[in-house]
Amino acid sequence: RNHSFRRQYSISNNKTAAFVFDIDGVLIRGKQVLDPGSFVFRALSQKLYKMYNRQKFPIAFLTNGGGCTEAEKARQLSEWFNLPIQSDQIVLSHTPLRELSAKFNKEELAVVCVGRGHPDVVASSYGFRYVIPIEEIGRLEPEATPFCDYEKVRKTSWDQQALHKPIGGILIMSDSTDWGRDIQIICDILQSNSRIVFVTQEEVKVYFTNPDFVWANEYPFPRFGQGAFRLALEEIYQELVGKPLPYIQYGKPYSIQYRYMENLLRKQALSQGYSDLEVIYAIGDNPAADIRGARNAGKPWIPILVRTGCFSTNKGDNDPNDPADYVFQDVNEAISTLVKKPY
Ligand code: G3P
Ligand code: MG
Repeated sequence: RNHSFRRQYSISNNKTAAFVFDIDGVLIRGKQVLDPGSFVFRALSQKLYKMYNRQKFPIAFLTNGGGCTEAEKARQLSEWFNLPIQSDQIVLSHTPLRELSAKFNKEELAVVCVGRGHPDVVASSYGFRYVIPIEEIGRLEPEATPFCDYEKVRKTSWDQQALHKPIGGILIMSDSTDWGRDIQIICDILQSNSRIVFVTQEEVKVYFTNPDFVWANEYPFPRFGQGAFRLALEEIYQELVGKPLPYIQYGKPYSIQYRYMENLLRKQALSQGYSDLEVIYAIGDNPAADIRGARNAGKPWIPILVRTGCFSTNKGDNDPNDPADYVFQDVNEAISTLVKKPY
């Protein structure tokens, strides 16, 4: 009896800290893995838990990257860090789109998928029944995008029946690999222009999943992200139609990503025997995405900035517009300091 009382007592007071890692600019830069094998190990190694008298910290990955399924990203991360990472520890830019598929299917609407990787496979994995890859629309009517060489564009296996359903949305799942082609075809769809190839419903919206204007790869200066593509499309659409682009924005810093992630983390914490989350350390490199997002998410999120990506070493003590609670050199310094902190 005494034993079970104690167990209950300790469980209900057993809150934990959790760690949420951004990927680009924190764990990797382009194809280069930053500090492979050491950072997560130090946070996760049994020795360290024992040292700080803890079990395991819930950890997860929150990125504005996309174009692959959560399972594929989990495999990639597991390989990079030689750790078993599961897909329910990952929120990609497009992960919350999963919740839209039921509505589209019910109304028998198709979605057009845009971006590098294989966004069509991702959309199907989220349950969207009628999926149209944007490059396959282009291939069916090559004169519509005269500067695109479709011989060089990878063929996607897809069900052309989807073209019989009205298009209800355009999902920008990751970075466009051909801005000219994609902007042209998106404008055509939004104006219901190329009726030979597709039909659309009355009002089609564009769903962007990543607002990042820039991001950090191995190049020494930040590169344009999906946010820059959106600006280009918005400007061209406005010029063409005289109206603002009808769109919905997902991705960090928007709260939907944080709510989604918090749910996953809470489940992970409960499964590890904790009662709840006391703090969530969100470690990122992009002040406008990672720091603003974690700040706006409120308690128990704590924004942490590192200097290995967009916010680099020469940028001063903290970001003036989106200051973090703590700024560290890199993810290793962040983890090794934070795990010792009482919360
Ligand atoms: O294209 C990916 C980039 O915009 C951001 O990735 O991991 O830094 O959120 P991440
Ligand atoms: Mg980043």
